[in-house]
Amino acid sequence: MNQHVDVLLINIGQLLTMESTGPRAGKEMQQLTVIEDATVAIANGKIAFIGTSESAEPFKSEKIIDCQGKLVTPGLVDPHTHVVFGGSREHEMALKQQGVPYLEILKQGGGILSTVKQTREASEDQLYEKARFHLDRMLSYGVTTVEAKSGYGLDVETELKQLKVAKRLHESHPIDLVSTFLGAHAIPYEYKNNPEAFLKEMLAMLDHIKEEELAEFVDIFTETGVFTVEQSRDYLAEAKLKGFDLKIHADEIDPLGGTELAAELGAISADHLVGASDKGIEMLAKSGTIAVLLPGTTFYLGKETFARARKMIDEGVTVALATDFNPGSCPTENIHLIMTFAALKLKMTPEEIWNAMTVNAAYAIGRGDTAGQLVVGREADIVIWDAPNYLYLPYHYGVNHVNSVFKRGKIVSK
Ligand code: NIG
Ligand code: FE
Repeated sequence: MNQHVDVLLINIGQLLTMESTGPRAGKEMQQLTVIEDATVAIANGKIAFIGTSESAEPFKSEKIIDCQGKLVTPGLVDPHTHVVFGGSREHEMALKQQGVPYLEILKQGGGILSTVKQTREASEDQLYEKARFHLDRMLSYGVTTVEAKSGYGLDVETELKQLKVAKRLHESHPIDLVSTFLGAHAIPYEYKNNPEAFLKEMLAMLDHIKEEELAEFVDIFTETGVFTVEQSRDYLAEAKLKGFDLKIHADEIDPLGGTELAAELGAISADHLVGASDKGIEMLAKSGTIAVLLPGTTFYLGKETFARARKMIDEGVTVALATDFNPGSCPTENIHLIMTFAALKLKMTPEEIWNAMTVNAAYAIGRGDTAGQLVVGREADIVIWDAPNYLYLPYHYGVNHVNSVFKRGKIVSK
């Protein structure tokens, strides 16, 4: 019997469903379900059928898209971005070229603090328009779900302004946004000599943030000259008591032990991990805390040493990948570039990279049940790629490979 659907994608060369019953840890990241010569049916914004062309015969539609042998996958998930911010920091490039370290620029009142100034000065509407511009670009790269952190306010008013912008964008933009409160991103000038009082002020915001559903996760920058492991532990433990899931900017520049702390507190993710210790990696594997690796940042900070992804995967850690899109340490929305860095600098296989940017990325932001996989009954967030197979993306680098992007069954970018 014939079954009528809204859209039929036919003649798919390779379909990656990424179907998985949970996050993929360690060697499981090598798994990939590839259907060749596939068809996908979409009805009411949801996936109605997935299978080979032969088995799709009963499905009929007014709208048939011939994929001409191209690759089709779930929409990508970017689980670590700082997409809402004011201004930009191109003037820091010269300092970088002179070899001034990232943390030194911050110490001198630049870096994150320079973006804080520009974000405080911007109106909510200005921030909204600017973030929307960046999100449009992310969507054009096939990203359909994005995590967005606050952290460029460092005062109550501006942190709330950032979170409200993210909420408005979630409601109005095709991309789904998932918010993280990163009030503890740096020590603001006003609290220069009293970081504890500052952290108290940020913690005092959490009840309101929870009530207004402005963020699901609480994050902190545990780093030399920013917050210590001890301060981070107290801060995050309190956030956990208030019902938030935790994330940490851990061991990004100096190896302080943020990785161990993330595992100890049962954080949903530990991010960066360039300096993660053997013990920290072992602890992540045990706790199931997802390692969100950000090789674009390591590249842009001009570092030689990248996160030890191979060791993490060999030890059974669940690894996800993200852009870390932000105005200082990784100003790019190009997640395809991150795939190439993951291949060449983290030595991840193409199979691991696809798992890290779909299934595992979704689990890293609590969206494992709705994003990152093509499964009948789920929303149809789908990308058609101008690529003949899944190996192609990490290989052909620096460009946008998207042919078209579907969000909830509708074409939103091409
Ligand atoms: O993930 N490390 C802290 N936060 C960002 C950078 C923010 C900025 O430089 O504006 C990061 O690298
Ligand atoms: Fe970050």
